[in-house]
Amino acid sequence: MSVEETIKALPKLEQHVHIVGSTKPETLLWLIEDSGADLPYESVEDLEQFYRYKDFPHFLNIYSTVNCTITKESHYERLTYEMMQSQAGCNVKHVEAIYSAWDHVGRGLDFSLMVDSINRGIRKATRDFGVTCTIRIDLVRNYGPEVGMKVLDLIEEKSDNIIAIDTGGSEEGFPPAPYKECYDRAREMGLHVVAHQGEGAGTDYIWECLEYLNPERIGHAVAAGEDTELMKTIAAKGIPIECCPVSNIRTGAVKDLSRHPIRSFMDHGIKVSVNSDDPPMFGTTMNNEYIQLHQKLGFTIEELFKISLDAVETSFLCVEEKERLLKQFQMEYARLI
Ligand code: ADE
Ligand code: ZN
Repeated sequence: MSVEETIKALPKLEQHVHIVGSTKPETLLWLIEDSGADLPYESVEDLEQFYRYKDFPHFLNIYSTVNCTITKESHYERLTYEMMQSQAGCNVKHVEAIYSAWDHVGRGLDFSLMVDSINRGIRKATRDFGVTCTIRIDLVRNYGPEVGMKVLDLIEEKSDNIIAIDTGGSEEGFPPAPYKECYDRAREMGLHVVAHQGEGAGTDYIWECLEYLNPERIGHAVAAGEDTELMKTIAAKGIPIECCPVSNIRTGAVKDLSRHPIRSFMDHGIKVSVNSDDPPMFGTTMNNEYIQLHQKLGFTIEELFKISLDAVETSFLCVEEKERLLKQFQMEYARLI
């Protein structure tokens, strides 16, 4: 087996993937047709151009255009099912999927019906491919903390399979501190708390995030690579980082992969996971993320497997599930090498 084939066969856990960001070009064509959206795209080739970005704000703009094609709660079932199908194709055993509820509730869609639709997609994909999935809700920072509180009200009424909250969306100009009450309330509700940070803005927001939001994990955190004190603090607090290497290249958060701080994070004692973020929108998959780390940053199979194990350990699964998955990962690895 080639090194690439072995990497593809490694068992994996995805901690950071957006359901809408997992919309394949052919599925976007179906959404455009089904919703009657006024978009000038008719082929997968057209959409390959559409899925290219000059910077992070441009990516968020395109992402928001894709959001507008979701006009029925039921659309989420297919998006979720296909996301999990692709993940299973990379030997991902468990997914923590991100759903930005207010992107749709703000336009009149029903939260409870969307959650049902997502969970239907999850149940079908688990039955067909064996992969499992839980939901983390992105409050989307640019909507502000008042909307964040409304989303928490919705979760309080219907929490089926929802295990965590997050703040993604725009970063520059939207500091984390105003979200303190949302995060405190989410913790009281028994939810895990994560924050996208240091992706589209600098280290000051990461410091502020640590102080006010006290996240259990940080998404991206690429800016932290410039600040040794910050990396030491993140390590000392035992906060893992959800790295999304190809995403960071596509949005320009990192110039090229050889400059990605993932190794520096690990050298400072921070546990990392490797994730695909918005896979078809960034032309990536979990397999590709791992292969890129091998080809561009010299990660060995052993090191990549250690990342998979750390992703299980720092996941939001219960202790029994973690133990079961760790055993399964070890058994599959033993058969591979
Ligand atoms: N929403 C979808 N993808 C995102 C990303 N990479 N950063 C922030 N918000 C997002
Ligand atoms: Zn993300």
